[in-house]
Amino acid sequence: MFDSPSIRFGGDYNPEQWPEHVWDDDVRLMRGAHVTSATVGVFSWARLEPSPGEYDFAWLDEVLTRLHAGGIRVILATATASPPAWLARLHPESLPVTQDGTPLGFGSRQQYSPSSSAYRTYAMRLVREMAARYGAHPAVEAWHVGNEYGCHVTHSYDAESAEAFRAWLTEKYGTIGALNDAWGTAFWSQSYGDFGEVGVPAAAPAHLNPTQLLDFDRFSSDALLSLHREESTILREYSPHLPITTNFMSFFKGADYWQWAQHVDAVSDDSYPDPSDSSAIVRLSASRDLMRSLGGGKPWLLMEQATSAVNWRDRNAPKPVGLNRVQSLNAVARGADGICYFQWRQSQAGAEKFHSAMLPHTGEHTRIHREVQALGAELAGLDDIVGTRVPARVAIMFDWDSWWSLEQQAVPAQRDYVETVLTWYAGFLRRGVSVDFLRAGASAGGYDLVVAPLLHVASAQALDELAAVPSRGGTLVVSYQSGVLDPQLHAYLGGYLGGPGSALQGALGVAVEEFAPLPNADTRTAVEGEIAGEAVEWQEVIAVSDATVVASFADGFAAGLPAITRRADGDGASWYVGTQPDEELMDALVGRWLADARITAAFPQPEHGVETVERGPFAFVANHTSQPRSVSVHGEQCELAPFDAVLLRRQA
Ligand code: GLA
Repeated sequence: MFDSPSIRFGGDYNPEQWPEHVWDDDVRLMRGAHVTSATVGVFSWARLEPSPGEYDFAWLDEVLTRLHAGGIRVILATATASPPAWLARLHPESLPVTQDGTPLGFGSRQQYSPSSSAYRTYAMRLVREMAARYGAHPAVEAWHVGNEYGCHVTHSYDAESAEAFRAWLTEKYGTIGALNDAWGTAFWSQSYGDFGEVGVPAAAPAHLNPTQLLDFDRFSSDALLSLHREESTILREYSPHLPITTNFMSFFKGADYWQWAQHVDAVSDDSYPDPSDSSAIVRLSASRDLMRSLGGGKPWLLMEQATSAVNWRDRNAPKPVGLNRVQSLNAVARGADGICYFQWRQSQAGAEKFHSAMLPHTGEHTRIHREVQALGAELAGLDDIVGTRVPARVAIMFDWDSWWSLEQQAVPAQRDYVETVLTWYAGFLRRGVSVDFLRAGASAGGYDLVVAPLLHVASAQALDELAAVPSRGGTLVVSYQSGVLDPQLHAYLGGYLGGPGSALQGALGVAVEEFAPLPNADTRTAVEGEIAGEAVEWQEVIAVSDATVVASFADGFAAGLPAITRRADGDGASWYVGTQPDEELMDALVGRWLADARITAAFPQPEHGVETVERGPFAFVANHTSQPRSVSVHGEQCELAPFDAVLLRRQA
């Protein structure tokens, strides 16, 4: 990540909310809490440029001087995350517009259309000023571009967005005929005679064209990314030595982070699990693994988390004693080289005054601040983990096109893509087996076990990559709803999983003929055979050509028909799972897949609420529950207090 011998520890620092005499206190207390890093300027645009073209940097100069003198390194934000009131007044057309045509006004934050030329012009001018002034500042160690791109506005339906969408489509398709073919506009009399007729998918009488919707999702991610890239180009011009990052939001639907990750020097993430969610360990751990995977295994930075409660849920539970530490170490174990928070000092006013911080309203002599100090000290002792990798032999495919298209209307069954993928991930988490996420179409060559859950949209090349896994001795698992549509959202004809003759149908020895979603998401169905158990939600009709039926449906529409199949191929094996296994069945299947892939699990049987991960010289074991736990990790018994984590130094 950024060049540092120690784990970075700190948070967003917003001194503009406080009088100057507080700033010295901040540096003193930061030092006392082992803070090494402050992210400054995220929401400072109005203070830095109080009126168009009139800049005030004196206060920021002073802040950086004080931080530098205190030995605290600065991740400097470009301050473009939220434009000042004057931009909305001068350029009302820069405001975002919702799908039903409502403009979103000034008064909160991020009130710009991603395609606004006025926003872009003023933002880039500010970035140039920032880069010229601070690009060589000794306190600054990295740039933080924007903030949480798309957090509040991903899709805007304003006139400039429509214009930009048309330009994006023209670039992509070249001719209107190619667009008509891709979008299947022969259906419902939707064909276009000219790119000028094409619009954004605004509110309409019935289902919108699915490929138009998917292209608008892709375009909207790209529109935000183009802002990030333009800022980055300016920053690199002035400070080629400084790394660039922007904070991702874990599993965030609005931005295809596989694309985005190619344009940052280090991946950063913001993470806000609900402290009252007893199953938070699953999404939390998966988010960390996604961040590591986005960066190709390189260490990443936890840019934001909360020390305790947030302010934006209906009810905002505090983190019980120990949970902040456990969740922080969970990030380190899964590849983070920095642990930071939103924010250093809790705001006295504004919408986030009830959001926890490293230094609460009540001051330094508080439970929250003492926990921060202790964590800072602990992280300062973990220098030998910095820069190390997390080995993983299992990969799970994660794909934004599949996410976007599966959650459209007019599909066989409405579902939450991420929640479903996480049920597959959780089976490995419960066995203490590390997992990377893999981009569809990427080579799976480095993994012994590759799982593709719900790979609904897939290019022929992506399906071929999967098909290659068993032939080189690996284990492949493909779930229902995979290989159904090509990237233009046209159905593969002649049997899903890529159509007849596809390498994937060959590798699995099956084709899918018909879908049969069960009445509700939690409707159960039994499967029986060599493996028996229960599944939920989904059945389908599978035509088996060259595979062993491991389990068949015992009831319902598909009673008696294959549910789960396996095809052996030399040392390799391919599994097809035509239903959504419940937790117990998933555990049984994961056991079989690990055995096929010759992977030994760290936990001898599935564990809930505890985890183990190996990174560098450590094995990390953590208890995310409120009960004491005793677990066997690779045969060694480990005792854990509630919300406790231990780092076991491994034998060399
Ligand atoms: C996001 C933002 C921060 C802050 C936090 C609150 O992560 O980036 O500025 O609003 O949410 O949880």
